[in-house]
Amino acid sequence: MKGIILAGGAGTRLHPITIGTSKQLLPVGDKPMIYYPLSVLMIAGIRDILIVTNPADTPRFRALLGDGSQLGLSITYAEQPSPRGIADAILIGAEHIGDGPVALILGDNIFHGTNFSATLTENARDVRGCVLFGYPVNDPRRYGVGESDANGDLVSIEEKPRHPRSNRAITGLYLYDNDVVDISKNLRPSPRGELEITDVNRVYLERGRARLVNLGRGFAWLDTGTPKSLLQAGQYVGALEERQGVRIACIEEIALRMGFIDADACHRLGSRMAASDYGSYVMAIAAELG
Ligand code: TTP
Repeated sequence: MKGIILAGGAGTRLHPITIGTSKQLLPVGDKPMIYYPLSVLMIAGIRDILIVTNPADTPRFRALLGDGSQLGLSITYAEQPSPRGIADAILIGAEHIGDGPVALILGDNIFHGTNFSATLTENARDVRGCVLFGYPVNDPRRYGVGESDANGDLVSIEEKPRHPRSNRAITGLYLYDNDVVDISKNLRPSPRGELEITDVNRVYLERGRARLVNLGRGFAWLDTGTPKSLLQAGQYVGALEERQGVRIACIEEIALRMGFIDADACHRLGSRMAASDYGSYVMAIAAELG
């Protein structure tokens, strides 16, 4: 399965912070935001990843992640000239997707919770149609909202409904079979001029091929789109990391645990950041697991 991280967008709700830099490079806790969605793909066992960015930001992402080989990954980059919507990433990434399934994740979404890797691997194993992940939220009217039946099949989907049928927001992680390329090619832009991911998901729903996996209340799905939510996400990550002494979304650790790199390679990555606590942690993990 191929992966795509959508790391473009305008980031207008974070202005002026995002006037001079990309939202997905901002810090959440002690690491750049994009580490979190990248971790999710890695945990799902996905190693071939396309990062879609605004043209001005591509060099910064390249400086951060390179070609991914240091992590045992293949990372490539594609530019989105303007924020034409989330489904636009499917068209930009059509060649990367090829003839197989794809996991699309939004570059500003943070997922954290027990058993997430099991949930992911189980659902990514054999994707037929699409798999969406729902999360209970306080104010579903701000989100795409999904409703599922007892079998986990999606039965309705609405974008920012005035009267939501459920409290399940559809999170920014989407697993699709290869039909997603054709579906996206045939989409009509919304009145805002964007290719909406909800319209893609609705086609799968109409075909009876959409599932909604409930992440449940013991899980954390955090948004980082506003100054307040960005700060809260950083505080959440910082509090957990300090309490438990482990790191969330440490990509070097995940690469080692997944067997993408060996302990020597992990240690080398840590030693390049030896002046920071993050770097020390990476070296300590390499020593522990080596
Ligand atoms: P949003 O949070 O919907 O949009 P945004 O990041 O542009 O922010 P704002 O609403 O403050 O202007 O985007 C969700 C994610 O998808 C985010 O990581 C940016 C990314 N994105 C793109 O890469 N391209 C796009 O065309 C859109 C709409 C979003």
